[in-house]
Amino acid sequence: MVATTDRLASTVGADVLREGGHAVDAAVAVGFALAVVNPEAGNLGGSGYLLVRTPEGEVSALDFRGTAPAAAGPGLFLDAPDHASELGHLAVAVPGSVRGLAEAHGRFGRLPWARLVEPAIDLARGFTVGERLVRSYAPHVVAGLRRFSSSAAIFLPEGRVPAVGDTLRQPDLAETLGRIRDRGADGFYRGETADRIVEEMRRGGGLLGHADLAGYRALWRPPLRFAYRGHELVSMPLSSSGGVTLAMMAHILSCWELGALPWQGTEHVHLLAEAWRRAYADRNEALADPDHVVVPVDTLCAPGYGAWRARAIALDRAGRSADVLPGHDAYRAERHTTHVSIVDGRGGAVSFTTTLNTWYGSKLVAEGTGVLLNNEMDDFTTRSGVPNHFGLVQGEANRIAPGKRMLSAMTPTMVLGGGSSGPRELRLVVGTPGGSTIMTTVFQVISNVLDHGIDLAAAVAAPRVHHQHLPDRIRVEPGGLATEVVRDLRALGHEVVEDAEPWGDVQAVCVRADGTLEGVADPRRGGVAIGV
Ligand code: DON
Repeated sequence: MVATTDRLASTVGADVLREGGHAVDAAVAVGFALAVVNPEAGNLGGSGYLLVRTPEGEVSALDFRGTAPAAAGPGLFLDAPDHASELGHLAVAVPGSVRGLAEAHGRFGRLPWARLVEPAIDLARGFTVGERLVRSYAPHVVAGLRRFSSSAAIFLPEGRVPAVGDTLRQPDLAETLGRIRDRGADGFYRGETADRIVEEMRRGGGLLGHADLAGYRALWRPPLRFAYRGHELVSMPLSSSGGVTLAMMAHILSCWELGALPWQGTEHVHLLAEAWRRAYADRNEALADPDHVVVPVDTLCAPGYGAWRARAIALDRAGRSADVLPGHDAYRAERHTTHVSIVDGRGGAVSFTTTLNTWYGSKLVAEGTGVLLNNEMDDFTTRSGVPNHFGLVQGEANRIAPGKRMLSAMTPTMVLGGGSSGPRELRLVVGTPGGSTIMTTVFQVISNVLDHGIDLAAAVAAPRVHHQHLPDRIRVEPGGLATEVVRDLRALGHEVVEDAEPWGDVQAVCVRADGTLEGVADPRRGGVAIGV
């Protein structure tokens, strides 16, 4: 079963499974295909994280997050023009995606590498534009792409947004993918592709150099594991904040029988908001690249720490984020990452989230490569007390340093059964884009299933709520909460704001009690799950 954001990409993955490839083979092929057909988020020029479960039950975590170029320091954006961390050359971090896919294939792959890259090359020669792609061209995206002729030439052919049914051709990207097919990751990090990326950086005052590209490493790390409601959750460790934050939420919320409360009633939403306020406060302040900063992960992830945090939660009134930690009030909601969940016929599984950061990343294509470059530098703390694109007010720990990975919210996760002997059986593979909302979205899907007994499709479709410490407010998807619940939450002292648009784009696969697989693509944006 392959659940991705795009029918063409899901088809590429399903074909690989049908040919005898396993979940990792399918993930590699899907990763390259998404870079072509989902160019606003799928990528060669971005980064991500991937969890792999082998049929024997061993889970590994691969960190291929971007890094700051060697020439970048903590003061990089202090005197830079507005939006320099989001748009154009300075926003670009060292991309990790190609190295990550090569590393995953090198360790686990069964089908030949070239076989897995080839479908993306075909798609890059031309694919039929669908509605989802057209919807990604928000006005600020079009304005951003127009600033770079190398980007506009590809994504605004003849100067306009492609229409549904048009063929989008990316010949330079096809060439770049051809070099990757023939030379592996070296086809990207060395030679012609690297030369062109570095030339592009020189042209526009960017910092990436040859040594940054050639020196980039993807890292295998022990996955983060914790118990929740009789199950074991396995998620992404630092440098993503995803797993640690999810564990903090789960431990705080384990202090109540969530399943006994009316679903999305006042008490349920109040407890979620109070738990998330605290988990995000710690996340924003303490978490960062563990290879650069000492992070007290064991303390933060201890069940006792969650219980201690829970004791400060009052049931009859809202807390105030200002009393937990100081901060700032601003956010903008968008969703431009992409998640893939795959389970193969032998119980192998992949949970894989990848990003350019915001839609089309820095909006900059390195001339002659077809490769859109990320704007992940904005995920660092660029200025003290100033919220990033997702409204997150982050701390000193996440300041820029050469070679350091910027903190991420990406949370590829698996839920395993609670049995104590033998390998724990796989129950659920899940993840989503959504910037700062990623962790609360993943938590809600898992909690809807484990606490409230809601079936997976409904658990994914259900309206979501969110709190991230600062800004100090509960966000609700359009029409998400009953009027009386909003009224009662306000009476408790919460600010409650209904967003104009829904968020997240969950891709999930569950293993049902009878062993069959159920794939669910979030109805919010039109992803597709295909079973083989
Ligand atoms: O790594 C992060 O936390 C962000 N760059 C993720 C961005 C994202 O999910 C955008 N989609 N909404």
